[in-house]
Amino acid sequence: MKLDTIIQGGRLVTPTETMQADLGISGEKIVAIGRQLTDQARSYNNEEPRASARAAVRTTNSRKIAHDHIAQSQRNGVKVINAKGRYVIPGGIDVHVHLDLPFCGTVSADDYDSGTRAAACGGVTTLIDFAIPYGKETLQQAVDNWHARAAGKACIDYSFHLAITNWQRQKKDVKKMIDRGIPTFKQFMIYEKEGWQSDDAAMYGALELLRDLGGMLCVHAESSRVLDLLIERHHNKAEMKKQGAYLHTLTRPNYIEAEAIQRAIQWAKVTGGRLFIVHMSTGEGADLVKQAQEEGVKVLAETCAQYLALDDSVFATKDGHLYATCPQVKKPRDQKRLWEGLRNGEVCSVSTDTCTFNRKQKAMWKGDWTKIPMGMPGLETLLPVVYTLGVLKRRLTVNQFVDKCCTAPARIMGLYPRKGTLQIGSDADVTIIHPTKKRKVDWRKMQTNCDWSPYQGQQLAGFAEHTFCRGEQIVDNYKFVGRNGYGQFIPRANPGRL
Ligand code: URP
Ligand code: ZN
Ligand code: ZN
Repeated sequence: MKLDTIIQGGRLVTPTETMQADLGISGEKIVAIGRQLTDQARSYNNEEPRASARAAVRTTNSRKIAHDHIAQSQRNGVKVINAKGRYVIPGGIDVHVHLDLPFCGTVSADDYDSGTRAAACGGVTTLIDFAIPYGKETLQQAVDNWHARAAGKACIDYSFHLAITNWQRQKKDVKKMIDRGIPTFKQFMIYEKEGWQSDDAAMYGALELLRDLGGMLCVHAESSRVLDLLIERHHNKAEMKKQGAYLHTLTRPNYIEAEAIQRAIQWAKVTGGRLFIVHMSTGEGADLVKQAQEEGVKVLAETCAQYLALDDSVFATKDGHLYATCPQVKKPRDQKRLWEGLRNGEVCSVSTDTCTFNRKQKAMWKGDWTKIPMGMPGLETLLPVVYTLGVLKRRLTVNQFVDKCCTAPARIMGLYPRKGTLQIGSDADVTIIHPTKKRKVDWRKMQTNCDWSPYQGQQLAGFAEHTFCRGEQIVDNYKFVGRNGYGQFIPRANPGRL
């Protein structure tokens, strides 16, 4: 077997161990892990040990090597990436992404081109987007529409969850979708105006059916009737003038999320269906999930980087409306509880809920917080935020970081062991990060189409120095070198256990 690439001398990190080793890639797969792979490469590649073989070995350490030289070295021998002093981790997996999403009267600004370039530079090699049926569209039509969005553009691998927006009409197609590699479905407890909302009977029915088919229900948990009441109560000129974007947080107290989570958990408990709480933002949510898990309910919960890094004081700033997302970022005490949940296990993974809106789109609010396009960019900063605030601040070990951003998402979403791990036979999705070197976040230098960043000016470590997706290098020395159309749709197995 011919080795194409050796990642040499790095510290390979999995959820359970950190070890100094070389990692060998052949085609799209990891095929070797061990010491001195460059010496062994001659035998792997059936070459005589001779001086010219050594000459064929290039390292990306040398700034002089241009991309054409790297391509040359791939033809002549093995490409060697010097990873000494670096962490070598499985490519990140962001299981909560919206690209090119028609929403809130506009279309989200990052599509499969900019969004997947951003992901690559952030060290993310697989994302899962949500295919959403609009109007009377079927689940299959929604999937077709999302395939069309990704086709020819995606630079990293991707999959879809399917939103169930009309249970009665769509339930008959659920099994077909699972058979086509989409085993996870989302129901929204809010967004009535968008035509996306599900009621309790729909959640109950979906949990029952998915229990029988081995799938999983993802739920956006916010309590809509009381939320509507609070919005109505504060929706007047005087308050909007006084409070501005801060009304987004004033109208969504923590019990809006907590009540919805406990209700969804109740339906999971009585049906025995598997429930995944998406973008969980509150400490109360973490408490409820922990308690339910202790009782044996099949519930898991992700949080997002913004809930770990930001708090609702942002809504009181001049640009507060930019940060509006549903659910909104909460209080420092919630951040603290979510970090604790990551450590303890009741929070299983970190994603982004990337749903990018630029300044012009966000300006549609004109002082009325109910008209803000909801969502923010995140793919490029997921690993850096979790690494910097988690590992460098000693809230997580580097192994926990890899678990929460790479391995657990793969296991939960039916991608493991093809993705999310550094194992022989797994896809060669590999990210190399410097353990301490920080880079200043500046949206002008990033791949996202956004013209602001929630982390603008912050110094973050954990950006991808090199990224490989199925064996192909897509980031080289912090520069994107991938190509549109390389990313593939990855059919998924039924969700696995943690
Ligand atoms: O505000 C958000 N999160 N926008 C995306 C849609 C959703 O609820 O996930
Ligand atoms: Zn949502
Ligand atoms: Zn979302």
